[in-house]
Amino acid sequence: MKIQENISLKPYNTFQIDKKARFFTKVKSKEELVEAIEFSKTMNIPLLFLGGGSNILITKDVFALVVKIDINGIEVTKENDDHVWVRVGAGEIWHEFVLKAIQNQWAGIENLSLIPGTVGASPMQNIGAYGVEIKEVFDHLEAINRGTLKSELFDSQKCNFGYRESIFKNKEKDNYVITHVTFKLSKKPKFNISYGAINETLKEMGISDDQLNIKAISDAVISIRESKLPNPKEIGNAGSFFKNPTISSEQFEELKKQYPDIPGYSQETGIKVPAAWLIEKSGWKGKTFGPIGVHKRQPLVLVNYGNGDGETIKALAERIQKDIKEKFNILLSPEVNFI
Ligand code: EPU
Repeated sequence: MKIQENISLKPYNTFQIDKKARFFTKVKSKEELVEAIEFSKTMNIPLLFLGGGSNILITKDVFALVVKIDINGIEVTKENDDHVWVRVGAGEIWHEFVLKAIQNQWAGIENLSLIPGTVGASPMQNIGAYGVEIKEVFDHLEAINRGTLKSELFDSQKCNFGYRESIFKNKEKDNYVITHVTFKLSKKPKFNISYGAINETLKEMGISDDQLNIKAISDAVISIRESKLPNPKEIGNAGSFFKNPTISSEQFEELKKQYPDIPGYSQETGIKVPAAWLIEKSGWKGKTFGPIGVHKRQPLVLVNYGNGDGETIKALAERIQKDIKEKFNILLSPEVNFI
C-alpha cells in the first residue's frame, strides 16, 4: 500500500472540485483495505472512502486518509437455468459491469445503464433509474467491519434498502466498507419499459415489441440520459443533487389548488413530487452564477462549468432549498454527501 500526501482530489470527484487530501491511497484487495484502516488508527487520523466520487461535494481540503477503493473482478459464482450470481469487486465501474452483463445476456440492470460511479457505491444508496432499483437484483454484499477488521455478509434484508437509502447511509454509516457485491441476474429477462421516455425512444429507434432485448433497452436509456444529463467528464456534476420529496396527500391537494399542473406519484407513505418540477417552477432551471449553476435540461442537477468551488455550490443548494421551502413548504434533502 503506497500512501501519497497532499494530493489534489480533482480527478477523484465528478464535480471536479480541486481540494486536497492530506493522505491518499488506492487499495486493490481486502488485505490492503485493512492495512489502510490500521494506518489511520496508528496515525489517529480520520478515513474517507471513495468509489467513483460521483455522489459527493467536497467543500474543503480533507484532513484524512482518503482511500480510493480499487478492488476489481467480475466472476460468476453460481448458476442455474434461470439465474446467474455474479460477484463484483467494489472498484469496478458500474456502467462497465452493466455492459458486460448485457454482452453475456444477464438481465436486470439494463435500465441502470450509464449511472456514474462504482459497483461498491451502488448498494449504499440503492441506485435507481427508469423504474428499476438495485435492490431488485441484489443478492448480498461483503463489507469490512471497521472496528473488528473482519469481513461480514449482508443480505438484502440486512441492508434495509429504501429510496436512495440503505443501512450504510444511516445506522451503520462509517462502520463498514463494502468490498464486493453479488448480484442475482436473470437469464430469462422481464423487460421494464414502462417508465417515462423508454417506450417512445425504443419506437424512435425502430425496435418493435417482438424485437425487444436488453441491449436495445440499454441503448434507449443511454440515449435518454445523454440527451438530458450532463456528462461529468465534460461538465462537473454529481447527478441528482436532491432527492424527490414525499409529502402528505393533504399537502399535495392544497398545492394542487394553487398549482394545478403539479405532478405527483402515489407512494405508500404519501405523494412523491419531482424535485425537478419544483426547482423549474421556481425559476432556477438553467440559471448560472459564474462558474456554477443549475443544469439547463435537468434542474435537479447542479453543475460546475469550470473552477467552481464546493462551498459556492453548497450555498447555491441552500438558496434553492430555502426558496422551495418558502414557495411550497417542502424541504428538499440533498442526495449528495457533503465533505
Ligand atoms: N421535470 C421537470 N422539469 C425538468 C425535468 C423534469 O419539471 O426539466 C419533472 C417532470 O414532471 C418529470 C419529472 O420531473 O416527469 C421526473 O423527471 P425525470 O424522469 O428526469 O426523473 P427525476 O425524478 O428528476 C430520477 C432520479 C434520476 C434518474 C431519473 C430517471 C432521483 C433523485 N433522481 O430523476 O437519478 O436518472 O429519475 O429514472 O430520484 C441520480 O440519482 O443521480 C439520477 C440522475
